Amino acid sequence: MKAAWLERYSKGEPQLTVGERAKPRLGVRDVLLRVSVAAVNPLDNMIAHGEVKAIVPYKTPLIMGNECVGVVEEVGASVTKFKKGERVYARLPLDRIGAFAEYVAVDEAALALTPDYLTDEEAAAVPLTALTAMQALALIRAEAGKTIFVSGGTGSFGAMAIPLAKARGLTVITNGSGKNAERVMALGVDRFIDYKKEDYAAVLSDIDYVIDSLGGKELEKQFSILKRGGRLVSLRGGPNKAFAQRVNASPIMKLAFGFVGRKNDAMAAKNGQTYDFIFVHSDGQQLAEASGILAKMEIRPSVDGVFGLEEVNAALQKVAGGGSRGKTVIYPAK
Ligand SMILES: NC(=O)c1ccc[n+]([C@@H]2O[C@H](COP(=O)([O-])OP(=O)(O)OC[C@H]3O[C@@H](n4cnc5c(N)ncnc54)[C@H](OP(=O)(O)O)[C@@H]3O)[C@@H](O)[C@H]2O)c1
Repeated sequence: MKAAWLERYSKGEPQLTVGERAKPRLGVRDVLLRVSVAAVNPLDNMIAHGEVKAIVPYKTPLIMGNECVGVVEEVGASVTKFKKGERVYARLPLDRIGAFAEYVAVDEAALALTPDYLTDEEAAAVPLTALTAMQALALIRAEAGKTIFVSGGTGSFGAMAIPLAKARGLTVITNGSGKNAERVMALGVDRFIDYKKEDYAAVLSDIDYVIDSLGGKELEKQFSILKRGGRLVSLRGGPNKAFAQRVNASPIMKLAFGFVGRKNDAMAAKNGQTYDFIFVHSDGQQLAEASGILAKMEIRPSVDGVFGLEEVNAALQKVAGGGSRGKTVIYPAK
């Protein structure tokens, strides 16, 4: 089969190799998918740079790609939920990615049926960010009637997090690129702040929850707008002790994550707030739940770049370059 893989980690622009690889072997709980469309995420660049090695220590050569939509080609002996010919999608399990390929074997627990109203390109853009939003909202135990600030909500994550937060009855404030303001307003955002024109930290206060997609210095600013006792979940701020416990890390990684996360935990503790880091994992049931909510709201992710597998490195560069108006997707068979 055709596939795109990483030969070795490197800090420079990722240079995946495109070529022929053996079709994946099917375990008893696996579903073999013929991948229709895979989506590209900032995570793919981070993996290639070795930035998430402490969390997912992938060995190279590694077929890349974290999410896709496809058609069931074959099922393992113990598979009960899916059958040949069905259109399904997934954020692939952390220990077995590989969506940038004509075929991928996926544990059935990671899969959900693809909603009919979505095209393949749109559907490929859903699983990873929708699951991130579901897992972040669960972690902050979001309650209806409260207010949430989602930073950088004009990107792919915001496209899922905003409607899913609205569906939970939250008031949603976001910031991001002005050129995407109209698109996020259409998702039901209650207040939009153009990050190049206005500083959210100067105009917001007493916010109940924050989902941070920016990390770095923005983290401290986001704690400053959070109410006393408020809860912050970060997609970028890095792991801490609570994360290590949640993912059942080894004793040594518990120590390491506790050490690197102590600054963020201390920042949170100053005002009785909480800090959590999230690294999105596969969950077919949760994806089915998100799909139902998004279908009811008729949410369609926008797609901004369409590439063939041979152009995978250009697709990764496009995502790294920012300024996007939607998801970048890849047709692995083209
Ligand atoms: N930990 C996890 O499990 C997880 C899961 C999903 C995503 N993430 C992370 O979350 C981040 C967002 O993901 P994504 O897929 O939504 O990326 P994306 O599609 O590239 O979107 C990022 C958005 O943030 C905007 N932005 C950039 N700088 C900003 C600033 N200073 N203030 C406000 N907005 C700003 C960008 O606008 P311009 O490009 O126009 O400047 C863009 O609209 C990425 O870093 C990704 O790695 C982590």
